[in-house]
Amino acid sequence: TIMHLFLLLILQATAALGQIDPAHCRYALGMEDRRIKDDDITASSQWYETTGPQYARLNREEGDGAWCPEGQLEPSDSQYLQVDLGRLTFLTVVGTQGRYARNSGNEFARAYRLNYSRDGLLWKSWKNRLGNAVMEGNKNAYTSVINDLHPPIITRYVRLIPVTKLSTTVCMRVELYGCPWEDGLISYSAPEGQLMMPPGYPIASLNDSTYDGVHERRRLFGGMGQLTDGVIGQDDFLVTRQYHVWPGYDYLGWRNDSLGTQGYVEMEFVFDRQRNFTSLKVHSNNMFSRGVKIFSSVSCWFKPRLIAGWEAESVAFKTVLDDRNPSARYVTVPLNRRTAKSIRCRFYFADVWMMFSEISFQSGITQTHTHTHTHTHRDTFNASTSDPPDDGNTPILIGCLVTIILLLVIIIFLILWCQYVCKVLEKVIPANTDPHYERVFLLDPQYQNPAVLRNKLPELSQSAEASACGGGYAEPDVTQCTPHQCFHSNAPHYAETDIVRLQGVTGSNMYAVPALTVDSLTRKDISAAEFPRQQLIFREKLGEGQFGEVHLCEAEGLPEFLGEGSPLPDRDGRSVLVAVKQLRADATSQARNDFLKEIKIMSRLNDPNIIRLLCVCVSSDPLCMVTEYMENGDLNMFLSQREIESTLTHANNIPSVSLSDLLHMSVQISSGMKYLASLNFVHRDLATRNCLLDRRLTIKIADFGMSRNLYSSDYYRIQGRAVLPIRWMAWESILLGKFTTASDVWAFGVTLWEIFTLCKEQPYSLLSDEQVIENTGEFFRNQGRQIFLYAPPLCPPSLFELMMRCWSRDIPDRPTFEGLYQALRPHVNQ
Ligand code: ADE
Repeated sequence: TIMHLFLLLILQATAALGQIDPAHCRYALGMEDRRIKDDDITASSQWYETTGPQYARLNREEGDGAWCPEGQLEPSDSQYLQVDLGRLTFLTVVGTQGRYARNSGNEFARAYRLNYSRDGLLWKSWKNRLGNAVMEGNKNAYTSVINDLHPPIITRYVRLIPVTKLSTTVCMRVELYGCPWEDGLISYSAPEGQLMMPPGYPIASLNDSTYDGVHERRRLFGGMGQLTDGVIGQDDFLVTRQYHVWPGYDYLGWRNDSLGTQGYVEMEFVFDRQRNFTSLKVHSNNMFSRGVKIFSSVSCWFKPRLIAGWEAESVAFKTVLDDRNPSARYVTVPLNRRTAKSIRCRFYFADVWMMFSEISFQSGITQTHTHTHTHTHRDTFNASTSDPPDDGNTPILIGCLVTIILLLVIIIFLILWCQYVCKVLEKVIPANTDPHYERVFLLDPQYQNPAVLRNKLPELSQSAEASACGGGYAEPDVTQCTPHQCFHSNAPHYAETDIVRLQGVTGSNMYAVPALTVDSLTRKDISAAEFPRQQLIFREKLGEGQFGEVHLCEAEGLPEFLGEGSPLPDRDGRSVLVAVKQLRADATSQARNDFLKEIKIMSRLNDPNIIRLLCVCVSSDPLCMVTEYMENGDLNMFLSQREIESTLTHANNIPSVSLSDLLHMSVQISSGMKYLASLNFVHRDLATRNCLLDRRLTIKIADFGMSRNLYSSDYYRIQGRAVLPIRWMAWESILLGKFTTASDVWAFGVTLWEIFTLCKEQPYSLLSDEQVIENTGEFFRNQGRQIFLYAPPLCPPSLFELMMRCWSRDIPDRPTFEGLYQALRPHVNQ
């Protein structure tokens, strides 16, 4: 069984890789060691003979120390340094350095972008997976900075184009890293990938998002992309290997019966020269429970020259379908040593969906180490798929496997040993080892649940009002505690009627707001007028929660009551429609306090994007607050019932919203939040469920405890204690109970994400509440293991970047609401 485990580990490790393993394909390609000849390095210009392109070699101090384009580089310039790698290369890393010239130079490129060409004629611009072309360059003249290319580039010619914001002199030294592209494939064409929108699952976008060719009439032509990036998809196609991307990202997928797929998917492959093909390997998903299977058969045709017809004789291959093992796998198709410069294959559907993540070809030309991985895949999968025997490479392969096994044994041993030692230490050493930093970790003995703990660092015992007013941000050492153990007694005021006070635990108040008593909050604190409650005529119930109910009412005589000049909701004769939130008669005094406090706060807010408190009924029970009525309900409900506007929604009268509506909504929320932030008011529960829409689609932010019944799965209930919207909360709010405008900014990022997924999915829907809290620990540790929300397919890349900034680990790195508003506003068509 241990051997099985090892084999499984090896297979899983190799299963993450394509034919080329980008993690290992990082060899210096010869700028520094001169394997790339001077003649192969050219440039758009050079300042002097001594700063010509041949001096652009990393870590070398020749000529005047680097390549420098002529004159000052202007922001609009496209000066370039060009390298001819002499053959098609899988390029994974670029390293740059400035001109140091033994301490006499100080010019460098702070940023640069890349263009590349496979044939030296057609040039393409590289972009990262989020669509950004510009990479960070150097910060001084001597340190080399490397940039990993995600996605990698398959190319022969590369141009490095320094980018500047100000007019400046730049100089560069460069190294390129990668390995030879043995496949010889220079382009593939295929039908475009499709969206999978099954009810109850996240939408999977199965397009080829890094394809660098032409996208025309629902087909991809003349380029390469995700099928040759060396990243193979997981068994569950929704789970991706990259962070910050959407479900289905790793696969290109098609639905049977859809446009362009007549029971099969036709792909064409063009190669750099004529080759003898032994096989073709397709990495395919096989999640049959979701209607996805490997292809049932494939037929391929061959063209020996580009300007020739397809040869009549094809190669056909039937796969052995597998309804028992849902693993994604490589399927090897023998190509019988046929000669071709171009190949056309038809892959026949075996089920509703077919999804590929990687395709590679083995041809008669020299095989490299990169091909060895794939044989293991084939072995696990399909004995009927045949590869030619691996003659000379077998001993090397065995040697590699044995080394890997030995390494794995050592790693497993170390892991087990570490776990053992940690357990022993946990028993011996109490968690609280620092005398200055008394932390009470506790697992509730009754429920075995994470409970509230009290951290006695002074800054953490500040009241929430202090933190709401931008109270000092101190960084506690929570690295040693598990996320479950890191709740502390400044737990937020999501406490509802059933929340048990934790005085017994810590001797302090569990609420972040200072407790208000009925007596301490007097009528004069409330600047809204008392309305005669008999003039409120009940029409219908709008919502319900633990505090009480919200009703739609007619308010008779309200315009006269509020007086001239008061901006009033639409009226019907003397009456006005209003929403009345009413506290339950049997509410606890704590709930009553919270209710009065909400009234007090709301009565002082006055902004077009904040719900307006019109009047109150607090002189007798039940306590009521009367707000403007928002005809279109909450934004979550509104968006989840709509699709993105298209010809289809128009033709079929499907309720829809446009991208510009979504942007307008985002701007309005940022504007309302900007107002709250200007008053140092921290909302603590910003989410689409707390944004209301009137009939003109104006958005107003509200905070209705009532909504928590309807959306109870959005809140994490610490048994019998606080109820927390953990999926919207910043790490410091979850771990430290610290709520500030910056944590509202985090929630705003999640709210944007909801808007651009049309509220079809809960944030981190694949994670349980406990996993979300665990992920919060990763956000705190910031070692690249945290899971971010993916970029919604509808969301422009620049907007997703803005969201990502809202989720910055360090508070100063998050944007302000003013900044968010300024960044979002230009997107909206006025
Ligand atoms: N639900 C809760 N408050 C509301 C309001 N003001 N208008 C419409 N629906 C609501």
